[in-house]
Amino acid sequence: MASKAIGIDIGGTGIKGALVNIRTGELLSDRVRYETPAGGRPEEIAQVVKRMVNELPKIGSRTPVGICFPAVVQHGVTMSAANVSKEWIGLDADALFTRELGRKVHVINDADAAGVAELKFGAAKNRKGLVLMTTLGTGIGTALFINGHLVPNAELGHLEIGGVDYESKASFAAKERENLDWSAWAERLQTYYSRLEALLSPDLIIVGGGVSKNHAEFLPKLRLKAQIVPAQKRNSAGILGAAWAAADRHIDD
Ligand code: BGC
Repeated sequence: MASKAIGIDIGGTGIKGALVNIRTGELLSDRVRYETPAGGRPEEIAQVVKRMVNELPKIGSRTPVGICFPAVVQHGVTMSAANVSKEWIGLDADALFTRELGRKVHVINDADAAGVAELKFGAAKNRKGLVLMTTLGTGIGTALFINGHLVPNAELGHLEIGGVDYESKASFAAKERENLDWSAWAERLQTYYSRLEALLSPDLIIVGGGVSKNHAEFLPKLRLKAQIVPAQKRNSAGILGAAWAAADRHIDD
């Protein structure tokens, strides 16, 4: 496995990237960030990613590049588009970025990448059993690990509760949109995590996404059987996980 890889995290609002030491999880460069082009269309995003890779420290032609993206990504093909352009549905994203960057690129789901980062370098390091990663942002991303192995593309953010896609109620975007205070939002999180717990009985739940830096405001309000902890890698989790997965290609091949 290579010791360095570039990780790029494509989100609804920003695209972040860095060179990563995938043995230690340290960033070997500054984090570069660009706005996601309005509309989130494939060609325009690919252009931004290309500019970003050119700005990162010079790398060898075989240095892996990993990208994470907010959609179901099956073997490099984006299969959904909850908060980005519908043009991504059915698109061979591995091929698009490989063509644009002129080097091999591997794309995975953003929550899967964040979970890999926590498993390798953060809150779930060396944890066995069933680990459930959740990211609370524009949407709700989820990743499932059994004894350290990823079950890719769990889309549990879209769990229907009371007839609604619960991402629309419990994401951080929903908190902002509806001006919910921490207690009101925590009630929704309680509903959401209780349902997940009833369905899956995880041993550990990790809460990531930008808002996890404010975990003291809402995690202590939740009553669950499983241990629930904040993510440790936060802002860099997607970058780290995407880089690691690109270096360890067999993760979803
Ligand atoms: C998407 C997931 C993604 C999550 C977080 C959801 O709306 O369906 O694929 O992981 O948002 O970005």
